[in-house]
Amino acid sequence: MAILPITVLGAPILRQETKPVTAVTDELRALADDMFETMRAAQGVGLAAPQIGRGERLCVVEVEDQAFALFNPEITERSGKIKWEEGCLSIPEVFGWVERSQWVKVRALDRNGEVIEVEGRDLLAVCLQHEIDHLHGKLFLDHLSFLKKRAAMAAWEEEKVKYPEGLRILTPGEDDHDEL
Ligand code: NI
Repeated sequence: MAILPITVLGAPILRQETKPVTAVTDELRALADDMFETMRAAQGVGLAAPQIGRGERLCVVEVEDQAFALFNPEITERSGKIKWEEGCLSIPEVFGWVERSQWVKVRALDRNGEVIEVEGRDLLAVCLQHEIDHLHGKLFLDHLSFLKKRAAMAAWEEEKVKYPEGLRILTPGEDDHDEL
């Protein structure tokens, strides 16, 4: 397994639509394993393929003791509302309160290519929605009001100088927040 560089805000791939996975291959299983390792190294709770520079419709999520690699995930049901202060591994040190559904049901393929359904509430629901947004080129910033988004972008202007190559290189055990 390998810890992969994370693309940061400004990378065009973060704004692109992903391509559905037609078959869960050994190569994609290995990619999912690398994404888990990368997410854990960053102390994150979710990571989507565009965040490591890949165009496949794949994300990994790990909240408490529940971990999922999800291929072609889609939300099939949702209910309730919740506000959560979100961050993103691709926008380090920038946070914003986002309103999401409090509960979602997601259908996806698992690492064996089998159809699975995952239900999540609270943080798991937030994380699933955040990662699935990534698979459609959408970031949590897009859910903020005009003024909050402007403040977040101002914070990012200060932060982004740390990533001159547009990549975030992690080392194991890096201390960070619960970013998605
Ligand atoms: Ni994110």
